[in-house]
Amino acid sequence: MSKESAMPNFATMERIRGICARNRHVQAPSIKMLKTQKQLDGIRRAGEINAKVLDAVEPYVKEGVSTEELDRIVAERTKALGGICAPFHYEGFPKHVCTSINEVVCHGIPDPHRILKNGDIINVDCTTIYKGYYGDASRMYCIGEVKDDWRRLVEVTKQSVEKAVRLAQPWATFGDFGHAIDRMARENGFSVVREIGGHGCGVDFHEDPWVPHFGSPNAGQLIVPGMSFTIEPMINMGTHRVTEDAEDGWTIRTEDGQPSAQWEYHLIITETGNEIISR
Ligand code: MF3
Ligand code: CO
Ligand code: CO
Repeated sequence: MSKESAMPNFATMERIRGICARNRHVQAPSIKMLKTQKQLDGIRRAGEINAKVLDAVEPYVKEGVSTEELDRIVAERTKALGGICAPFHYEGFPKHVCTSINEVVCHGIPDPHRILKNGDIINVDCTTIYKGYYGDASRMYCIGEVKDDWRRLVEVTKQSVEKAVRLAQPWATFGDFGHAIDRMARENGFSVVREIGGHGCGVDFHEDPWVPHFGSPNAGQLIVPGMSFTIEPMINMGTHRVTEDAEDGWTIRTEDGQPSAQWEYHLIITETGNEIISR
């Protein structure tokens, strides 16, 4: 993996300077946020492999399967594809994938005793290291007959990330798409988790910038060609408030025990738009 940065050309630097001089609510990217062509190629490939792992585990996400079994499949497929599971032993995380069911917002730990049952909703979040670069994405699944409002939570969350991707254009801001996600959640009577967000991703697992799923138009991080980050809104049916499990130090749950949904797409910003490199 190459940790060098892409020095933007003079025209790009002047454009960044101009925008930030005119609007004090907009933040310029750091040099580290701008990837080289070589890095972008590596990140793109890691994203493709990561999507293949998600594709491979998908048929197993069914009633009667334990989340431990999903972990085993992710570990096995990632290895077969020549990748490494980034979550494994990341800051002490004990498994290869995050499996977050119902009121679990994110960072659910696979467990041999947690069997998927009719009516569950589950997020499967895979991150793959391939030749030193990172790809990160997650998908939701409805197990059997899921209540209509839970299904709608899953669907609205997916629509919000897709809307956000359309707004994540070069020279727009994080506030432009964050605002759209938050508005879509509120219009549906849901709430957006505020403490946890997306992140720069590619050369490391979690890089700057932090990506909030709320905000104001024309404010926040400026989006510039060469950036690589995730958009991964967690949308709750009830309160936006969350708690961390005191025992395992990982599992994040809704404070009120109502369900939460999440979809994660990993994007690269190009001169003319963006590419979804993993979803
Ligand atoms: N994949 C998660 C994300 O989208 C991070 C999981 S950290 C872990 O950022 F340690 F729990 F795997
Ligand atoms: Co992520
Ligand atoms: Co993830």
